[in-house]
Amino acid sequence: MPTAIVTGATGITGNAIVRHLVQDPTYTKIYTLSRSQPGIQDARVEHACLDLQNSAEEMADSLAGVSADYIYFCAYLARDDEDEGARVNGALLSNFIQALEMTGAAKRIKRLILTCGFKYYGVHLGLPKQPLVESDPALEDGLGGYKWPSNFYYTQKKILEDAAAKGKWEWICTLPNDVIGYAKHNFMNEATALGLYCAVSKALPGSQLIYPGNKLNYLLFNCWTSAELHAKFCMWAATAPGAGNNVFNVANGDTESFQNLWPRLAERFGCTIPKNMFNPNTTKHFAAEATDTQLKFNNPISVHAVSMGISDDPTTTRSPVLQLPIDPQKWAQRDDVIQAWNKLKSSYNLDQAAWDKATWGFLTFVLGREWGCVASMSKARKLGWTGYEDTWETFERTFDVLEKEGIIPPIEQLRNDFQ
Ligand SMILES: NC(=O)c1ccc[n+]([C@@H]2O[C@H](COP(=O)([O-])OP(=O)(O)OC[C@H]3O[C@@H](n4cnc5c(N)ncnc54)[C@H](OP(=O)(O)O)[C@@H]3O)[C@@H](O)[C@H]2O)c1
Repeated sequence: MPTAIVTGATGITGNAIVRHLVQDPTYTKIYTLSRSQPGIQDARVEHACLDLQNSAEEMADSLAGVSADYIYFCAYLARDDEDEGARVNGALLSNFIQALEMTGAAKRIKRLILTCGFKYYGVHLGLPKQPLVESDPALEDGLGGYKWPSNFYYTQKKILEDAAAKGKWEWICTLPNDVIGYAKHNFMNEATALGLYCAVSKALPGSQLIYPGNKLNYLLFNCWTSAELHAKFCMWAATAPGAGNNVFNVANGDTESFQNLWPRLAERFGCTIPKNMFNPNTTKHFAAEATDTQLKFNNPISVHAVSMGISDDPTTTRSPVLQLPIDPQKWAQRDDVIQAWNKLKSSYNLDQAAWDKATWGFLTFVLGREWGCVASMSKARKLGWTGYEDTWETFERTFDVLEKEGIIPPIEQLRNDFQ
């Protein structure tokens, strides 16, 4: 009869894991840990408000009597500075493990499943080699003769490897890509920002859905990760024979692109797409919203350039840039956009926090980059993982939830009201 501890239980990935654990009748006890309440009602769920930034000693007091076979670690604190991100997120994990060692709960651990992400491959730095495979070398500073920044996933993985070897338990790192899901009071996700962009576009004169990103980005292939599928994956990985002490990509299993998704978004939100969307004349009246940002590091593909035979190719030598005809961060500041949002908010009683906390910066990044992110799922499949989700269906299901939660307008009404 397995038991679980989930940290980050109020977050996008952690909350989905708790909801899936609750659906599994074999789990007899599920401890949820975060600073706020995850709001999941089930007799087997026990929540402890815990600040993982506390010292191990302080946490050990709060964790008295808390132990489990499987630990799902999804707590995360975003930091702009990579060194600081590695320090803070490394400490969250290491202090927590130390606290479990102090209480004796570490003796019971069978596997600890840590949620990481595609930044593991440096997808935030520039063009990576694709498909992304788990055996690709970590971009440790100096690899390939280049400077690479700190990466908090490497810090956390090292902490896990050392603690697991000492405690004789196993670790797993999951690597989801952009996670599509919803957690209450958590607006920092791509679906919320995209849904708000589409709804406001519908309410603007002409109801045109202009792709804010660059043309190359529009045509590229990508993969996404459903929070629900990721939760199922974590539960599978907790017990799958042979899966221990491994890093796994976790993607939906289809390959998608905005060239395919954008027309569907336009249809769902009742918008039209301009005929020549990437013609500068189409967007020139928004010129003040364009951005062109030079990134600081090399393209991660450069460490493979010699073996790939492309050492002197611009693909590897050209510095990565983010290019947006319309930067969502600037767009969200436009007077007419704010007015349209205010109109939607009062018409449909929407949550102002959704607008204030929407991650426009994340959209700027994912729509402005000139590289896609496609990962191989072969490693997990060889061990028996068969999970799959259709990415458009993931978006639709998430938009349905966002409508119910008053974050984006009810779609039928929106389409009728802004014809
Ligand atoms: N979301 C994505 O699109 C995405 C994509 C790829 C990878 N990832 C990775 O997935 C991992 C989990 O991210 P997420 O998106 O699920 O995070 P999230 O939605 O931002 O949630 C973070 C969780 O951490 C908890 N937390 C933060 N600070 C804490 C503290 N001091 N003490 C206790 N709990 C704390 C938060 O709860 P309280 O605030 O209630 O304490 C919350 O439950 C991260 O490594 C992230 O980089 C995310």
